Amino acid sequence: MTLKQEVEIRKTFAIISHPDAGKTTLTEKLLLFGGAIREAGTVKGKKTGKFATSDWMDVEKERGISVTSSVMQFDYDHYKINILDTPGHEDFSEDTYRTLMAVDSAVMVIDAAKGIEPQTLKLFKVCKMRGIPIFTFINKLDRVGKEPYELLEEIEKTLDIETYPMNWPIGMGQSFFGIIDREHKTIEPFRDEENILHLNEDFELIEDHPIKNDVAFETAVEELMLVDGAGEVFDEEKLRAGDLTPVFFGSALANFGVQNFLNAYVDFAPMPSGRTTAEGDVVSPFEEAFSGFIFKIQANMNPAHRDRIAFMRIVSGAFERGMDVTLTRTGKKMKISRSTTFMADDTQTVNHAVSGDIIGLYDSGNYQIGDTLVGANQKFHFEKLPQFTPEIFMKVSAKNVMKQKHFHKGIEQLVQEGAIQLYKTLYTNQIILGAVGQLQFEVFEHRMKNEYNVDVIMEPVGRKIARWIENEEAITDAMNSSRSILVDDRFGNKVFLFENEFATRWFQDKFPEIKLYSLL
Ligand code: G4P
Repeated sequence: MTLKQEVEIRKTFAIISHPDAGKTTLTEKLLLFGGAIREAGTVKGKKTGKFATSDWMDVEKERGISVTSSVMQFDYDHYKINILDTPGHEDFSEDTYRTLMAVDSAVMVIDAAKGIEPQTLKLFKVCKMRGIPIFTFINKLDRVGKEPYELLEEIEKTLDIETYPMNWPIGMGQSFFGIIDREHKTIEPFRDEENILHLNEDFELIEDHPIKNDVAFETAVEELMLVDGAGEVFDEEKLRAGDLTPVFFGSALANFGVQNFLNAYVDFAPMPSGRTTAEGDVVSPFEEAFSGFIFKIQANMNPAHRDRIAFMRIVSGAFERGMDVTLTRTGKKMKISRSTTFMADDTQTVNHAVSGDIIGLYDSGNYQIGDTLVGANQKFHFEKLPQFTPEIFMKVSAKNVMKQKHFHKGIEQLVQEGAIQLYKTLYTNQIILGAVGQLQFEVFEHRMKNEYNVDVIMEPVGRKIARWIENEEAITDAMNSSRSILVDDRFGNKVFLFENEFATRWFQDKFPEIKLYSLL
C-alpha cells in the first residue's frame, strides 16, 4: 500500500460522554465489531472486579497514579480506527482537552434520560471551538428518556450546533420498537424476533405489521416528517467544520443501533487531517517525511518501572520502529526503538504506523507535552498546543525545607510536562498551582512524593476565575487585592485570579481600561 492509501483508511476519534452515559459500553461494542475483543464482558465487568479496558483510569486511580485517557485501535470494514478515551468530568484534567487536539473527530455519547449535562459541556465546547466534527450517539433507548425532539433541541441550544438525526426511535423503554433509518427508509426492530420493515417515500409501512396502528409508530413518523419537512440537508461540509452533528439513537448495552452508527461513522468521518506549524505552514498527512507531536505523557503506567509513556500523534509520513528522529525543541537526534500501540487489553510493540495513528513512546524524561518529532533532516515545530484556563488553585510548599532543591526540580518538570500549571504571587513569590480538574493536584502530590521524594503541603486557594491581561502596562498596585489576586504565570505574563463572576464584573467596572481575556 502507498502512504496515501494507508492514510485514507484511517479514522481517529475521541469518545466523550457524561459519566455513566455509556461510553465504556459503546466502546466495547465498537471493539467487538472490530474483532479487537472476542466477547462482550471481557471489557466491561466492574461488578466482577474486572475493569473495562477503556477504564484504565479506575485502575490508575486506585494506584493513585497518573490518570489519563487511553488509546485503542481496531479494524472495521477496511478501515483502521483509533479511539481515544477521555475520562469523565470528575477526573477531568488538561490531558482530556489535549486529547482532542490529537483526533480528527469526536463521538459524543448522551444518556437519553439525562440529555446534556453541564459538567462536561466544556469538553464539547473545545470540540466546537476547534471545529472538530462531532457524531452524537443517544444511548439507553431501552429505557424511558426524554423525547427525541427535546434532546435534539437541547443539543442545538446548549452546544450551538445543528443536528441531523440519521435515524428516529419508535417508542422507548418497554415500548421501544426500533429505529427508522432515515436514508434507507427501513425500520430496524429492537427485538430479535422481528424482521426489518420497509417504508415508502411517504414513510408508509410497506409490509403488513401491527405496528402500523401503533401510536408510537404514528408519532415517530409524524416527527420524522416534521424533521424532513424542515428541509435540513445532511451537509457534509457543515459536519466537517463541526457545525452540524449527525445524531443516532440506540442502546449500547443491547448492542442496538451500534453497527448502523459505526457504518455511518466510517462513511462520513474525516480521514486524518494535517497540522499547522509554528510558521503557519500546513503539513499534509500525505507528506512522505515523518513528523508527529506529543500531546500527552503518562507516568508510571507500570508502578514497577519509572518509565513514562509519551503519546504521539503522527501527522505525516510513516513511523518505522528503530527509525531516527529529531526532537525539534532540543535538536537532539534519537532512535525510537521502544514504541507501543494499544489494542483493547493489550499493548503491542508497533513496527509501522502512519499519519493519523497514535503511538506510545517509552520515555525516560526526554519529552514534553507539545514536542515535535521530525524525521529525515527536517526542522520545524508544530504550533503550540492550546493552554487551558485553570479553574482551581492550590498553594504549595515543601514540608521539609531541606528538600527545596528537589521540590523545585519536581515542580519544574511536572509543569513542563503539562501535568499542572504554575503561578507565583507578586513580591512574595508564593507558588500557586492551577488545574482544570482536582485530580491533577492528586496526581501532582503523588508524583512529587514518588518521583522526587518530596512531601508537599497543599493549601486550597479554591475556585478562581483566571484572566490574562492584554495591556499589562496599565496595571497598578491598587488592582491587586484579595478579591483579585495578581500573579505571574510561568512565562512571566500577569494574570488576575478573581474570587467569582461578581468580582470579575466589579473589577471591569472599576478599571475599564484593563483588557482581560481567558485562554481556551
Ligand atoms: P460510562 O463509561 O459513560 O461511564 O458508562 P458505562 O458504559 O460504564 O455505562 C454506565 C451504566 O449504564 C452501566 O450500568 C451500563 O451497563 C449502563 N448502560 C450502558 N448502555 C446502556 C443502554 O443502552 N441501556 C441501559 N439500560 N443501560 C446502559 P451500571 O449498572 O452502572 O454498570 P454495570 O454494573 O452494568 O457494568
